[in-house]
Parts: sequence; structure tokens; C-alpha cells
Amino acid sequence: MSDVTGIKLGDQEFWAAPEAEREAGFARLRHEAPISFHEEPFIEGYGQGPGFWALTRFDDVVHTSRHPELFCSSRGGTNIGDIPQEIADFIGSIINMDDPRHKKLRNVVSAGFTPKALNQLLENVRTRTTSVIDAAAEKGECDFVAEIAAPLPLQIVCDMVGVPPSMEQTVFEQSNVILGVGDPEYVQGMDDLMRAFLVLYQMAMELGQDRLDNPADDITTTLMHAEVDGERLSVAEFASFFILLVVAGNETTRTAISHGMWALHNHPDQRALWASDFDRYAVDAVEEIVRWATPVIHFRRTATQDTEISGQPIREGEKVVMWFNSANRDERVFEEPFRFDITRSPNPHLGYGGGGPHFCLGANLARREIRVMFEQLFQRLPDLEITCEPAMLQSAFIHGIKRMPCAFTPTL
Ligand code: HEM
Repeated sequence: MSDVTGIKLGDQEFWAAPEAEREAGFARLRHEAPISFHEEPFIEGYGQGPGFWALTRFDDVVHTSRHPELFCSSRGGTNIGDIPQEIADFIGSIINMDDPRHKKLRNVVSAGFTPKALNQLLENVRTRTTSVIDAAAEKGECDFVAEIAAPLPLQIVCDMVGVPPSMEQTVFEQSNVILGVGDPEYVQGMDDLMRAFLVLYQMAMELGQDRLDNPADDITTTLMHAEVDGERLSVAEFASFFILLVVAGNETTRTAISHGMWALHNHPDQRALWASDFDRYAVDAVEEIVRWATPVIHFRRTATQDTEISGQPIREGEKVVMWFNSANRDERVFEEPFRFDITRSPNPHLGYGGGGPHFCLGANLARREIRVMFEQLFQRLPDLEITCEPAMLQSAFIHGIKRMPCAFTPTL
């Protein structure tokens, strides 16, 4: 069954189309069929799932996110295709769990993400940002994604979990594979995906064992020594948590920074405004960048009982997909949603989720990274220009930018 508009969100072709076409498709869905049913893609070796309900309006996404008793994360995972629960736990850790287990595990690491803990990390964010820009500044041109947007979140998340610099590149490459599903440049089949998980799993096991013997000041040490329900985390539980953190903390923030730069390039008035008084506009500008970028396009839930959303009956076991990209362009909530406006306030965007129990654990960290990066870009590479259209990731999950050449006056 397809929806009345003929738009097929489960089709690769939809996601291969230019951005403007996809935006127009979601706008039609919001107007004509805000909750519509879509077929799932056929996956070689895995077959085809039963299909999913697509939620395209802000209120319906928020409702679903905030009612985990009706829409759970643990039955087959939170991506569109079903995966057996053991594998879903393995590859998604807490993001594919429900309370109480989810809450207990999340609490173990949440102390590492409090504003106080982040203040300590702030100096690190500054130092890392300076060295990222130092490395590019002399060149006069570079790939913005690979050399400016990507290294900062990668290094910060590696510092947090204790990955040594020699292994950062491996984390970078494998998380590209994990979040690159749908783009043939990164992933040819499910085997590539499983291989990437195993590489990170092996790394996590070695690091975890090391921190058991040699405690350090990082999240890996906290996780390895924590007790949940009177028991230490198993190696598998730790490893999947580790994978979630490195993957979630890395590509998302890179995507926000890259889209932020692309948006500022395309909206010189907004760029000039921000440059005129960086601190005054920074808080709202960073939120607008995340709304505009919506780095994570969707997450799925599964109905735990027969229910309804805005009058649409949903049966127990059916899949419901929250399209954050569409919610963040919902005309009912955002005035002129297609206007990039760094002064937009209020800006209740759903870039970090719909406010339910899985709300992004790293939101405050990401905000800091984005802010510090643009602060230093404005100061040190003020005339940076994007020199050709970015190469976009083909994905229904991550709104990624793969490459984006830029040029600027070199500095020493
Ligand atoms: C701009 C950057 C980021 C964006 C747009 C983003 C977006 C998201 C979204 C949409 C979710 C799911 C929310 C839900 O289902 O309600 C999420 C969950 C999560 N994020 Fe982020 N994220 C970002 C940065 C980070 C960073 C830097 C970290 C950590 C280093 C991180 C760690 C996590 C974790 C651990 C979860 C799972 C939380 C749970 O299941 O309880 N994220 N993020």
C-alpha cells in the first residue's frame, strides 16, 4: 500500500532525488497525508518488512516520542528494517531499549554529560578546535567536511571514551560505514555493516579490558566499573554502548557544522549578522543550524498496543516512523520554515529528538562544539567560501554532507 500522494518514503529513489524534490514531497505529505503508510525497501538476504506509518507533522512526532508506553524502542529496533532484539541491543545499545533497563544504563553515563562535566570539557573543545583550524589555515583551500567539520567531534568523542589518537581514523571510517547505509560509496551490503560493527567491537573490548586494569578519567572507565542492578556491565553491553557513543557523537555533529557553513554561505545576510556580534546571536544561531540541518532524519518506534495518532488507528506491533526533518519544517509550528534565520526564537526544533526518554544525551556537548567551531571560523578564517556544491550522502537516516570544497585566505 502506498499513500494517496504516491510518495514512497521507503524507496531508495526518493532518497536519491535532489533535496528540493524531497522537501516538496514532505511538504505535500504534511498537507495532504500527514500520517501515511509506506512499503519498506527490500533488503537482499533479509527480505521485506511489513511497512511503516510515516509521521510528518511536529505534534505527532512529539506525541509518539513522549509516549514510550505506547510506542517502544525495543521491538526490532529503531531503524525502519526489523532486526532481532539481541542484534538490536548489540548494534544500538540504549537507543534500542526501553525503561527500566534503558534508564539504568543511560544514568550510568549521563553524569559525563552534565553542564558541570561539560564545562571541564570546554577547554578541550577549544584546544581541539584551534588545532583543527591550525592544520587547515595555511592551505588556503581544503575539503571543509574532512578537514574542518569532521575532526573536531571525532577527537572530542574519542577523548571522552579514551580512544587513542592512533585509532581515531578507524573510528572515523567505521562510523562512516555504520551511518552511511543507503549510500553505495560507503556500504554495498549488510556484510559491510556487520564488519564495521565488529571492528569497533574489538576496539571496545580491548579498551574496556585496559580500563578495568588501569582506570582513567574517561567514560570507558566509568562504564567498566559501574554496577547496574548489582552487576557489572557485560563486555557486550559495554561494547555496544561504546559503539553508540562514538557513532552518535561523531557524524551528527559533523553534519550540523557542515550544513551550518553551507547555510551561512547561501545566506550572506545571516552570516554578516552573526559576524557583527558573535556572542549575541550564538545561542539562537546554533539552534537554527541544528533545525536547518536536522542531521538525524528519522527514528522509528513500534506500537505496544492498539492506539491512534491524530485519529489514525495504529495497531499493536505496527511501525511508526518519526520524520524529524519534516517536523522541523512544519508550517504549523515554524513561521516561514524554509527561511534560515539565526535569530529564530522560540525554536522548539526536534533535531535532538521529540523530548521523550531517548532525547539526545550529547545535545549540550554538540551545542558547545558547534558554537566554538563557528567562533573560531569567524575569527580565523573570516572569508572562507564554499567553492562548489556539496556532495550529499544518500541516506534516509543521516542528512550527511560527504565533501564540500572551500577556500580562504591562508594564515599562519
Ligand atoms: C548535532 C549533533 C547531534 C544530533 C543532531 C543528535 C541527534 C540525536 C537524536 C535525534 C537522537 C534520538 C532522540 C530520540 O529518539 O528521542 C539522539 C540520541 C542520542 N545521542 Fe545524539 N545527536 C547529536 C550529538 C550527539 C553527541 C555529541 C553525542 C555523544 C557524544 C550523542 C549521543 C547520543 C546518545 C547516547 C543517544 C541515545 C540516547 C538514548 O537512547 O537514551 N549525540 N541524538
